Amino acid sequence: MRKRYLASLVLCTALFAACGGEKKQDQQAGDNSHENATDNSMVSPNAGKPASKGETLMAQSDCKTCHKEEMKVIGPSLKDIAGKYPNTPENVDKLSDKVIKGGAGNWGDVAMLPHPNISKDDAKEMVSYILSLSGK
Ligand code: HEC
Repeated sequence: MRKRYLASLVLCTALFAACGGEKKQDQQAGDNSHENATDNSMVSPNAGKPASKGETLMAQSDCKTCHKEEMKVIGPSLKDIAGKYPNTPENVDKLSDKVIKGGAGNWGDVAMLPHPNISKDDAKEMVSYILSLSGK
């Protein structure tokens, strides 16, 4: 199991390196600058809306490195997670354990890193927020 976490960590690093490289190329291309400006405005579609506690906790943690609201990055998009699991107390409980312990298997071979410093209550706030995103 440990090996798997390590492997995904290496993969993440590689992916980030790749992203950094792409960005530089975009900037060099120059004439895409208008498209880039539009893209940037999409970064926070919730700007202006008051953030829920779970959303704030996620922003303070590392979640957004691997999860975006609409788009698969390293982990599944938040909306995909919300679409897969109905917002029930059992699912909130099960998924918050997974956030704390980490692991793979439900979406593919890439593992989520464990988050041993997150309390169960905070993890539940985050998962409730994620599962509340379905159907929006
Ligand atoms: C290193 C990248 C990474 C980080 C950081 C990360 N995740 Fe994940 N997450 C993943 C991956 C990969 C999966 C898919 C795991 C699987 O296939 O079972 C996942 C799955 C999930 C799931 C669904 C679990 C399931 O079994 O279907 C939830 C909920 C989740 N993450 C929440 C969070 C929260 C909350 C945080 C921040 C505290 C977080 N993640 C941080 C990579 C990450």
